[in-house]
Amino acid sequence: MESTAKKRIIIAVDGFSSCGKSTFAKAIAARLGYIFIDTGAMYRAVTLYALEHGAIRSGMVDEDKVVGLLGQIDIDFRFNPERGASDIYVNGDLVEGKIRSIEVSNCVSPVSSIRQVREKLVAMQQQMGRKRGVVMDGRDIGTVVFPDAEMKIFMTADPKVRAQRRYDELRAKGDNVSLEEIEANVVARDHADMTRAISPLRKADDAIVLDNSHMTVDEQMEWFMEHYRAVTGAC
Ligand code: DC
Repeated sequence: MESTAKKRIIIAVDGFSSCGKSTFAKAIAARLGYIFIDTGAMYRAVTLYALEHGAIRSGMVDEDKVVGLLGQIDIDFRFNPERGASDIYVNGDLVEGKIRSIEVSNCVSPVSSIRQVREKLVAMQQQMGRKRGVVMDGRDIGTVVFPDAEMKIFMTADPKVRAQRRYDELRAKGDNVSLEEIEANVVARDHADMTRAISPLRKADDAIVLDNSHMTVDEQMEWFMEHYRAVTGAC
């Protein structure tokens, strides 16, 4: 029988936006030699394709058109050794940079609320995780995609702390934004994520909460390893 110490598991990382989920999930995956899958990037990739193919005009999402395009969207991840993470491709085109644009960020919420979009991406995510040894970050991984994940982490942080982090990030990129504006946006997105009709953001009953408001990345890793050892029996 396979020893528990070597058992490869699924680690679901869900939580609020601007919590540092991807940074945390990527670090865990690197530490364990697991694959990291950023499911937000998949929703962003569909949104980009919809924008480029006339299914979103002046910020208005035409749901039927988006659904009509789904059959021609092929998404895959390829490991990029320079980044130490995987880049996302749509129909063979590298779109990692484009999916982070403001335009995509502004339209990804309504696109990710479309039932058929979620069905397609959830099925892909389940397929990607079938061999386990995966860290997947998103909003519904522990509740919908892998309700049987061996380890579920729900990340949160004080909205003011998240807003400050995002503000620092945007200012560093040269964006002229105000802290009040960002705070309002963080609160609005929390509300949209939690009240969406399909697969709203919620903590799975068996998830452990990581509030990283006042934690460094190293402290978060220490916290994680303690829980990971308890779950897998690894030393
Ligand atoms: O993590 P992110 O901000 O890149 O995610 C982009 C959007 O996709 C966000 O509005 C929430 C949505 N999303 C989702 O609905 N389900 C997921 N599993 C991941 C992201």
